[in-house]
Amino acid sequence: MQYRKLGKTGLEVSEIGFGAWGIGGGMWGASNDAQSMAALERAIELGLNFIDTAFDYGNGHSESIVGRVVTESGKKYGSELLVATKIPPKNRIWPARADSSLSEVFPKAYIFEYVEKSLENLGLPHIDLMQFHVWQDSWAAQDEWKEAIAEITKQGLVKHWGISINDFQPDNAILAIETGLISVVQVIFNLFEQSPRAKLFPACEKHNIGVIARVPLDEGGLTGQIRPDTVFAPDDWRSEYFKDDRKLELSMRLKQIEQTMKQFELQIPTLAELALRYCLSDTRVSTVIPGMRSASRAEQNCAFSDGRLLTAADVKALEPHAWNKNWYE
Ligand SMILES: NC(=O)c1ccc[n+]([C@@H]2O[C@H](COP(=O)([O-])OP(=O)(O)OC[C@H]3O[C@@H](n4cnc5c(N)ncnc54)[C@H](OP(=O)(O)O)[C@@H]3O)[C@@H](O)[C@H]2O)c1
Repeated sequence: MQYRKLGKTGLEVSEIGFGAWGIGGGMWGASNDAQSMAALERAIELGLNFIDTAFDYGNGHSESIVGRVVTESGKKYGSELLVATKIPPKNRIWPARADSSLSEVFPKAYIFEYVEKSLENLGLPHIDLMQFHVWQDSWAAQDEWKEAIAEITKQGLVKHWGISINDFQPDNAILAIETGLISVVQVIFNLFEQSPRAKLFPACEKHNIGVIARVPLDEGGLTGQIRPDTVFAPDDWRSEYFKDDRKLELSMRLKQIEQTMKQFELQIPTLAELALRYCLSDTRVSTVIPGMRSASRAEQNCAFSDGRLLTAADVKALEPHAWNKNWYE
């Protein structure tokens, strides 16, 4: 496992981090806690030190699993193992609407309340990185969130603050970055969604902001394992994400990527590996956080952090595969 700096936090994070949405159950269908814990334990054994969870992932369930594994790991929390979580929007609207006010979404007392709730679920003494789970940059100039984070940081409950940027709006946190109060952003970045490279990543580089690349496998779409005839469990939200003729369209796109891999002689055996290496090949990315619900997934993904990056020519060859879709809507 290789490590990178998480922007101005100064923390060293593993290139492969643990995306803990799926292990919370809820939208991903019934979860198997023993299997989830084994996945996280195996990843930690393999050197993974960064875990991304959220209050919203199973209404605290993902946080409580993460907290248990971290506590029982024998690793020093806050240095050898790091946890990031998120404050859900008070109005429970994802992504934040352009006309929502800060007081509707993150009023000051509510920020305090959810730091306490996450600490309780995690059972840990502090949170290394607390992220706002949605954002609107028109809020950046307002005082309430700034006062809250200053007071909570002073109390030692949260070490660093970040923003999990609205889906497919990568530039909608740049004003917040410029306040100097945010150290990290989390953004959708993958072979299809390449747009953070245009403005967000240069802003992060300028202000020394850590970048967490989320949904690196397009919810499984970029693994090649979702085929036109794939049927999801009825309680897996992805039956909606990959509905109608979307799986067919996806498989055509994947064939084109495979043609590029052949043409440019990319010696990478699977699409999942290509997708994760693609994210890591942008050195402005600090960590990539695939969801992984079994120990075997953890083993596969941790192995991709070996220092081997795609060349600039390979990244350029993959540029035409950018696909401007928003299947969350
Ligand atoms: N708004 C937000 O802040 C937000 C939104 C979405 C996600 N996130 C964060 O980003 C993380 C990652 O996103 P995600 O989990 O939604 O999607 P993802 O990482 O793009 O895809 C997860 C899917 O890929 C599969 N997978 C993982 N590694 C694989 C491999 N090597 N080969 C084949 N399949 C593989 C997983 O398999 P299994 O089913 O076997 O585990 C799972 O079905 C989340 O867990 C969460 O921490 C944040």
